[in-house]
Amino acid sequence: MDKKRANGRYYTRGNPFQLEPFRRWAIAVNLEQQTILEPFAGAKDIPQLIASTDLMCRNWAFYDIEPGAKGIVQQDTLADFPTGYNVCITNPPWLARNSATRRGLPFPEATRYDDLYKYALEQCLTNCKWVAAIIPEAFIRSGLFLQRLCDFISLVPQTQNGTTTQENTTRNTNYMFEDTEHPVGLALFAPNTTGDVRVWRNNELLGKFSELQRYLPPRSRNRSIVFNDPKGNLGLFAIDNTVSASIRFCPPAELGAYRVRNQCRSITKIGVPWDVDIDKLNAKLMDIREKTHDVFLTAFKGLRRDRYYRRRLDWALARSIIDGENSLLQM
Ligand SMILES: C[S@@+](CC[C@H](N)C(=O)[O-])C[C@H]1O[C@@H](n2cnc3c(N)ncnc32)[C@H](O)[C@@H]1O
Repeated sequence: MDKKRANGRYYTRGNPFQLEPFRRWAIAVNLEQQTILEPFAGAKDIPQLIASTDLMCRNWAFYDIEPGAKGIVQQDTLADFPTGYNVCITNPPWLARNSATRRGLPFPEATRYDDLYKYALEQCLTNCKWVAAIIPEAFIRSGLFLQRLCDFISLVPQTQNGTTTQENTTRNTNYMFEDTEHPVGLALFAPNTTGDVRVWRNNELLGKFSELQRYLPPRSRNRSIVFNDPKGNLGLFAIDNTVSASIRFCPPAELGAYRVRNQCRSITKIGVPWDVDIDKLNAKLMDIREKTHDVFLTAFKGLRRDRYYRRRLDWALARSIIDGENSLLQM
């Protein structure tokens, strides 16, 4: 498993290339006329997926540090990236720096990024005009490479028979990867500045990134709101349960004898130096979730029973919601 992890090697499964936004990108790229670079080719799954749609390209060029099929040039493309290609379609290696450190795995010294996929993506974007990459869903919240990003698709697994009952959630779900249910996205980049990013959930257009951002409350730096405060006057369940969108603020008494821990990111008590209106906070939270389609909330492994990713509300956004409601009261 660690060897697999060291090379960030989870092969692509499921087919995001039949989705409408990718098909539009393929037309803009003029895919039929292009030789496509796959710099982290693995077992050549991506060309097979594309071939299984009705999209075609002229040719492929494959590289991998540890080829998983014939016809792949063995090369460390992170150190020595192939040049002369206009278009790159890939699923680069993923490996969090802290995970590499914890497991004693090598991590390139040439990069300051916290994950290998960001470094790999930077190499692709430096060397190719058009890039399509399957990467962690969290990428859209990283603020990286937004200038050339034209579309970002949150790839939500779908059951093969379209049903939604709990018992078939794991069994029949068409996950994007063989070994992991990690939330993933498909990022589509163009040669020049794009102005804005269309954000999708599979084939559903959720909105433009800048428009979705407008539904967020102004960022608060109010440090008088204290998280993980054992005497706090506000409780928070910060992670969805496995059934539905259940994140909510609550009276601290509801948390009973729950002992607040400093590192905990799921349940907390918050010290707020004014009387909070919990119903209003929850209404605001639901409003934001609905209007932003959860684009700014971190997704978790595994789907809820309602077929959406479980999400987590981070402290920064929780603080902004609490502070924002207070500012409204004072107006
Ligand atoms: C996430 S897998 C994806 C494989 C393939 N693109 C797919 O979608 O099925 C990442 C691939 O990157 C390769 N890889 C990791 N580090 C590399 C490096 N420095 N140079 C070239 N390939 C590398 C791994 O061997 C692995 O095959």
